Amino acid sequence: MTDHPPTPPAGDRSARLAGLLERVEEQLADDLVPVEIFNDEDVFRGEMERIFTHTWVFVAHETEIPKSGDFVQRRIGLDPVIVTRDGEGGINVLSNYCRHRGTQVCQTDAGNSRFFKCPYHGWTYSNTGELVGTPMLQRAYGERVDPTDWSLLKAPRVESRQGFVFASLSEDVPPLDEYLGGAGWMLDLIVGLHPDGMRVAGPPDRYKVRANWKSAAENFAGDVYHVPNLHASGEQVRMAYGIDGAADLGRSYEFENGHNFMGHAWTEVLGPDGVLWGYPPRVKDHFDLSELDETQLRVVRDEPPTVGNIFPNFSFIRVFSPTVPGGPLVAFTSFRQWQPIGPGEIELWSWQFVWKFQSDEDALEDYVTGQFQFGSAGIFEQDDTVAWEGIARAGASPWARKAEMSFHYQQGNKSEIDQSPDPDWKGPGLHRLTGYGEHNQLNFYRHWLKVMKGPEPTDVKPTGAAPTGVEPAEVQS
Ligand code: FES
Ligand SMILES: [Fe+2]
Repeated sequence: MTDHPPTPPAGDRSARLAGLLERVEEQLADDLVPVEIFNDEDVFRGEMERIFTHTWVFVAHETEIPKSGDFVQRRIGLDPVIVTRDGEGGINVLSNYCRHRGTQVCQTDAGNSRFFKCPYHGWTYSNTGELVGTPMLQRAYGERVDPTDWSLLKAPRVESRQGFVFASLSEDVPPLDEYLGGAGWMLDLIVGLHPDGMRVAGPPDRYKVRANWKSAAENFAGDVYHVPNLHASGEQVRMAYGIDGAADLGRSYEFENGHNFMGHAWTEVLGPDGVLWGYPPRVKDHFDLSELDETQLRVVRDEPPTVGNIFPNFSFIRVFSPTVPGGPLVAFTSFRQWQPIGPGEIELWSWQFVWKFQSDEDALEDYVTGQFQFGSAGIFEQDDTVAWEGIARAGASPWARKAEMSFHYQQGNKSEIDQSPDPDWKGPGLHRLTGYGEHNQLNFYRHWLKVMKGPEPTDVKPTGAAPTGVEPAEVQS
């Protein structure tokens, strides 16, 4: 027999993670964050076990699966799931692991089918997860297989808001609306300006980035400080305007459960043209604002949310941009998800959204403009992802760790700008009349720490194995 090196006991890894989280807590009290949480195997394993299997995670928009039998393949943390529309119109979020040996029963991104037949031995499941076919059942098994015991695992909680479907792998979570809190209020403003709402313009762009998922989430939570610097070239090629004012015109929205949005007071520089995100009349003339209260009207007219992140990994951007260099302005809407693959790698998923009332031609203009900026080859997207990759490199650096390097989130400490919460704010959460301060990023990390340090989940057995290189089935293109 060969001696194998022993797997580190789960307790050792848990103890190391606990020590690291203590250090995060000490540092966060001083608005600092230790570098290693951005590329660390134990932190990543902890995130998968304590966050992604215990909270609401976005899985699909209802317009991606409008008809009975429609399905899309998605992920919750490391796990591939199939999101199906069944014959009754219900939405199911099924584990994509065959109950026989684990092979992925669905090997395509999207389609329409009532059944999923596993490619390995042929066990077949309905689109609600029941085992409905077992090849050579009598010859192979006799009476050993009771199909009712061998359904696909199913997310116990599935709920939606404004067509955005979220699932939780844990039963023990509050209702989705309660979890979203102020972020749900923001979603209502963002896509509820027309009774028909919005739809996906197509399947998501997807590509891998060697970055940690939190770097993308904190950026979209409200990092407007980077815009005039990192994205300066966008203005130089006349594909963006006014980016120097990104922080000064910023208006932050900070909500419970680590959700954050950042708005912009476009009307201060664009006047009436900046109302309602700067949408051109061909779009905003269709909006119906009659259901909005006074605070909501103030937000959509004067300080509309431009970016945001719903904890943990679902983000939003709506900004105006020229269709071509120096061309007319168009507002585009993208929702995006930072799918964790490993401690220092994500798969970036990006959907463009358009209004359902738009004609295909009208919608195409918005879609293409969004792709120019935030598609996989978008100029803003390329700027951002290169910067985030540097963070993951620092996070894994033995030198940075040895030197106990921390990242700096102390913008708000002694700034000359008034960063205190708006005393006249009547909406949910906190509102600030500036984009400076890194308050949203800190709100994200404080919630992250709370969940990571929270009571050990009782329904997940900690593993000793490191997750590096663990990657669920590649979602096929
Ligand atoms: S692994 Fe699916 S049928 Fe065997
Ligand atoms: Fe950016």
